[in-house]
Amino acid sequence: MRQKVSVIGAGNVGATVAQRLAEMDLADVALVDVVEGLAEGKALDLSQAGPVLGYDSRVEGSTDYAVTAGSRVVVITSGLARKPGMSRDDLVTANAKIVGEVTGAVVERSPEAILVVVTNPLDVMTELALRVSGLPRGRVVGMAGILDSARFRSFLAAELGVSVRSVEAYVLGGHGDSMVPLRGATSVAGVSVMRLLPAERLEEIVQRTRDGGAEVVRLLKSGSAYYAPGAAAAQMVEAILRDRGRILPCAVRLEGEYGVQGVVVGVPVKLGAAGVEQVLEVELSTEERSELERSVAAVRETVAVLG
Ligand code: LAC
Repeated sequence: MRQKVSVIGAGNVGATVAQRLAEMDLADVALVDVVEGLAEGKALDLSQAGPVLGYDSRVEGSTDYAVTAGSRVVVITSGLARKPGMSRDDLVTANAKIVGEVTGAVVERSPEAILVVVTNPLDVMTELALRVSGLPRGRVVGMAGILDSARFRSFLAAELGVSVRSVEAYVLGGHGDSMVPLRGATSVAGVSVMRLLPAERLEEIVQRTRDGGAEVVRLLKSGSAYYAPGAAAAQMVEAILRDRGRILPCAVRLEGEYGVQGVVVGVPVKLGAAGVEQVLEVELSTEERSELERSVAAVRETVAVLG
């Protein structure tokens, strides 16, 4: 049987996820957007790239959630993006309404699906999707850690003049200014970056990683990043569909791990056919632990806005 992945929101991020998925030729893709013609037009365009690139994924677009029925995975990207000067948290009220409605609509038609949440503020929208769907935490997972880690890796690779493939990095915590790049566990060929770079330079790169999303927003002037976020979300979908059991930093509700109860933040998880199959507890330095606590507190504060 052909598998289906739905992508809700056909803006830049949603369309990029759909494109990556179609090009992976892993599943059929259903694209939904409230804007008349947007999802349909982009889906048609993506279908017509198939013969050139050699993929057979069927891409269907609609304003009607009926096309999403029976999805294996649903990626939620709907909502407003940041404008220059805005924080991700500034979006909470507007996007909560949208993500709440989307979650209800997709779960009704795909009760077995795993939800991958991409809308900002990421950790809070993941919490909201958990509440609205009533699904177990393993089936509602947020995309942020892969993106934040990718930014860290890309800056480090450029700094050290090595392939991005040779840089392993984990950025944990909330997807906000309080994210927690693990300096100790970030390495090139097993050697910690703390030994490869002077401390001040490493801190500059950490700060640029924290501001990574805002840097793109500032340059674009309208809209936010989408190539890297789209690639990161597609990687999560691939890990689920292929049952890879990949260890990836993703946003999941902690239930006691890291001493945290009932808050969604980014931590390394094992991602496979069942969604989040395991939450991994990596060793943190005292400083990283207190940074994580600060990050958890920041997420808690914004979650409180949901009521
Ligand atoms: C970013 C936004 C999408 O980090 O959260 O680019």
